[in-house]
Amino acid sequence: MSLIRLVNFNTIVDARGELIVLESNKEIPFNVKRIYYSRGAPQGSSRGYHAHKQLQQIIFPIVGRCRMLLDNGELRESIILDSHLKGLLVGSMIWHEMHDFSKDCVLVALANDVYNENDYIRDYQEFLKLLIR
Ligand code: TYD
Repeated sequence: MSLIRLVNFNTIVDARGELIVLESNKEIPFNVKRIYYSRGAPQGSSRGYHAHKQLQQIIFPIVGRCRMLLDNGELRESIILDSHLKGLLVGSMIWHEMHDFSKDCVLVALANDVYNENDYIRDYQEFLKLLIR
């Protein structure tokens, strides 16, 4: 069993370059309600360190690369995200951390809900406790 679930995006290429199209319930396996992106990560910095109770997300670098760590309380896996054509599905109750950002990394997240701090679990021990409930 692996925690890594990648969605491949199509690219429409012609003499003018590339065009990538992402639609809710098509390439993205849910209804997208929010898009956010992070950039400008200082060298050696990390982000994430939380899980969501309900939220589902597709995360990918539109430019650059980073390493995503996923943890479901039993398995811990890392994947290098370095393609604008592969979205990583980060489901609910998956602890995730982003590390090793390239200087140019722009990390995009598509989410199935609006921002809600009550949906976050920011303490790893609390995350483990909620899993066995
Ligand atoms: P956070 O989710 O902790 O960032 P990351 O997972 O990348 O480390 O969010 C950082 C801050 O931004 C935090 O104060 C919450 C705020 N925030 C919003 O207001 N709206 C959002 O959609 C997101 C993702 C974060």
